[in-house]
Amino acid sequence: MKVGFIGLGNMGAAMAGNLLKAGHELVVYNRSPEKARGLVTQGAALAASVSGACTGEAVMTMLANDDVVEDLVLGREGVLASLRPGALHISSSTISMPLSQRLAHEHAQHGQRYLAAPVFGRPEAAAAAQLVIVTGGERSALQAANPLLEAIGRKIFVVGETPEAANLVKLSGNFLIASIIESLGEAFALIAKGGIDRHQYLEILGSLFNVPAYNTYGALIANRRFEPAAFAAPLGQKDIRLLLGAAERLNVPMPIASLLRDRFLTLMAHGGEHLDWAAIGELPAKDAGVI
Ligand SMILES: NC(=O)c1ccc[n+]([C@@H]2O[C@H](COP(=O)([O-])OP(=O)(O)OC[C@H]3O[C@@H](n4cnc5c(N)ncnc54)[C@H](OP(=O)(O)O)[C@@H]3O)[C@@H](O)[C@H]2O)c1
Repeated sequence: MKVGFIGLGNMGAAMAGNLLKAGHELVVYNRSPEKARGLVTQGAALAASVSGACTGEAVMTMLANDDVVEDLVLGREGVLASLRPGALHISSSTISMPLSQRLAHEHAQHGQRYLAAPVFGRPEAAAAAQLVIVTGGERSALQAANPLLEAIGRKIFVVGETPEAANLVKLSGNFLIASIIESLGEAFALIAKGGIDRHQYLEILGSLFNVPAYNTYGALIANRRFEPAAFAAPLGQKDIRLLLGAAERLNVPMPIASLLRDRFLTLMAHGGEHLDWAAIGELPAKDAGVI
């Protein structure tokens, strides 16, 4: 397929690379064009503007947050104004339900198709085409997107025809992962203060909870490795904020999410913007006077 890719950050660059490897004709755009260098070497064309990446059958976006997506998609000479009728926008950024709903509406008004396709997996998983993709949108949009999604993921879930449902699932998943980070952080603080070796404890955990979230975040906390950020703390903070927004609209009390909101505020208050979101997992050790 002739496809555009907008947003070559930690995730987007790796995802775009797999579209190229799968043989798609790729045009990329990024605010900071130097991040496209590797992809251009591998055969991608570099567009000088958002609209330059919107000339094919489909465009994927992988951008930081709602404001950026709104700007680059709905703004002047954005994706909406540039895609031809019938073309498809696959939105993989973690964004709010209301924005996803609005994007679906606006694309439909322009005779274009929209698929919400947020992803689970950190940049390593993206590079290995091992993302778990949760989709929401009309069946024809999903069918058109399928060859692209298969090139970047290991599993594709269809939540339904309502795009924002996929975004809700994504937010709920990140809530669970952040809860695991917090719990791991508390457990590590406890055992460290009790004089137990963190690495031995990590090994014990590995035989109890041999799943990606525990393995990945257990290792980051045990090794106190929060830089460079593969998933930056402000993005994790944004996800908890979006989750709480959804919970409020649906009248669902989520006390653990409220606690996580404060954890991220604490991290930011202490200069944690540049750290991986796993760094909230070190706050319990600070509270306990372990570090
Ligand atoms: N990292 C993960 O593990 C992970 C996993 C799943 C989902 N996600 C979600 O995927 C999305 C991207 O995450 P990421 O980790 O790839 O983030 P990232 O490395 O910070 O990349 C963000 C992208 O957005 C662009 N951007 C930011 N502000 C912009 C602006 N004002 N105007 C134009 N472009 C702007 C950046 O362009 P520049 O390069 O010019 O800054 C970059 O292309 C987020 O919604 C995140 O929550 C991340």
